Formats: sequence, structure tokens, C-alpha cells
Amino acid sequence: MLKLIFLFLLATQIITANAYAAGDPVAGKQKSQTCAACHGVDGNSTNPAWPKLAGQHESYIIKQLEDFKAGHRENAQMSPMAANLSQQDIQDLAAFYSSQRRRPAGTEPELLDLGEKIYRAGNLEANVPACMACHGPTGLGNPAAKYPLLSGQHSTYLELQLNNFREDIRTNDINEVMRRVVDRMSDEEIKAVSAYLQGLRSTW
Ligand code: HEC
Ligand code: HEC
Repeated sequence: MLKLIFLFLLATQIITANAYAAGDPVAGKQKSQTCAACHGVDGNSTNPAWPKLAGQHESYIIKQLEDFKAGHRENAQMSPMAANLSQQDIQDLAAFYSSQRRRPAGTEPELLDLGEKIYRAGNLEANVPACMACHGPTGLGNPAAKYPLLSGQHSTYLELQLNNFREDIRTNDINEVMRRVVDRMSDEEIKAVSAYLQGLRSTW
């Protein structure tokens, strides 16, 4: 009998956990109208300083919206947008954007060699780790670890974020993981790896 009760409790727990985790992409689309002005109707922004959200991992989007809302990540344009979102809004918006298809982009060919080298092998002398180790060989990231999808993202936005991590303007990376990565990167390396990533394609 005790065993049965335990099983029942376990089952209800699993059901509630699922209900909580599930965002509704249809509701998310409706809630995304204010976001569309900057991030595009389908999450493919046109202004290169505003990130594409299309195809981004749900888990990563949720973390970023929670961080903006709590003030762990700050931006004059974005922080007020997250301030009034409920937990359900956050889940729904994340479900919507992650279900959208990322639009590919071209890039500047002259930066590609250095960019690819940094991405795939890092810079041994300066102790910069390979980005690929966490963000994957094609920039897909890792939803379970909340490593963001980077391929096809605007290079302007990526460069801005890498600089923000380096200058301690963005400090919401757990265990300072990104701040340690960019610490010893040169401006040229940051520019090159950002250009490489904009042109990189994954199976979005
Ligand atoms: C006025 C323009 C604007 C609007 C409207 C806006 N955003 Fe943003 N958003 C930004 C900017 C700019 C950033 C980058 C902030 C930074 O540099 O740290 C951003 C970043 C984000 C990020 C982080 C992406 C990443 O790759 O880390 C998410 C998620 C996001 N916005 C979701 C939303 C949602 C959801 C809405 C609507 C509720 C919204 N935004 C409305 C401008 C906007
Ligand atoms: C040890 C794992 C790890 C390595 C190595 C790593 N990253 Fe990251 N990266 C992360 C994590 C985790 C985040 C998300 C931080 C957060 O929660 O805001 C991130 C976030 C980013 C972002 C912000 C994306 C966005 O949408 O705002 C960029 C850009 C980035 N990484 C580029 C790089 C580059 C370029 C390299 C190599 C020079 C690299 N990363 C190496 C783990 C890593």
C-alpha cells in the first residue's frame, strides 16, 4: 500500500512538473506583438544590434528573460520589456520563438580564417578556449546546459555581447563562464569570431 501511494505521488509530481514546463507557442505568438517591433514578427530581427530569437533554445530564452526581469542582465531597451512578464508569459514567449526558423545570413570573407581558428581551436598562447567545446561544432549550443545557439546571429550583436562580458557590463553568466573566456581575447579576435558565427549554419 505504501508503495502504491509513493507511486501515485511520483506520478502527480511528474504531471505538475510537465504542466509548469510547457509553454504554449500559440499564446506566445499573441504575446509577442510588442516584441516584434525590435525582434521581428518571426524572431528574425533586421537591426543587427537586436538579437535574432528565432530557433533559440527555450531554456536559454527563459533564463535571459528571468535575468532581465530580476536585474541580473541589464539593457535600457530590453529591461523594461521583461519587467512585467509573468512566468507563464516567459514560458509562452520562449516556446514561440524557439519554434521559429532562423533566417541565414552572409558574412565578410576576410575575417573567416581567424574567426574559424578561434571558434574551433581557441588561442593557445593567450589561453582562450575553443568556443566549439561548449557551443558545438556548428554553433548549435546545448539546450540542457543553456548554452545559446550562436550560428546565424548578427555579428554586430555578438560582438557587442562579447565586449559586454569583457567589460563586466554583462555579468549574468553562471560561474563567470563567458567572462573568463573573453578575458584575454583581442578586439580583432572578437570581431573575427563574431563574423564567422554570423555566416555559420546549423540545422535550425
Ligand atoms: C525596443 C526594442 C526591444 C523590444 C520591444 C524587445 N526587445 Fe528584447 N532585446 C532588445 C535588445 C537591444 C536586446 C539585447 C540586450 C543586450 O545588449 O544585452 C534584447 C535581448 C533580448 C533577449 C536575449 C537574447 C539573447 O540572445 O541573449 C531576449 C530573450 C529578448 N530580448 C526577448 C524579448 C521579448 C520576449 C520581448 C517582448 C516581450 C522583447 N524582447 C522586446 C530589444 C528589444
Ligand atoms: C565553458 C563553456 C563555454 C565556452 C568555452 C564558451 N561559451 Fe559562450 N556561452 C556559454 C554560456 C553558458 C553562455 C550563456 C551565458 C548566460 O547564461 O547568459 C554563453 C553565451 C555566449 C554568448 C551570448 C549569446 C547571446 O545570444 O547573447 C556569446 C556571443 C558567446 N557565448 C560566444 C562565445 C565565443 C565566441 C566563445 C569562444 C571564444 C565561447 N562563447 C566559449 C558557455 C561557453
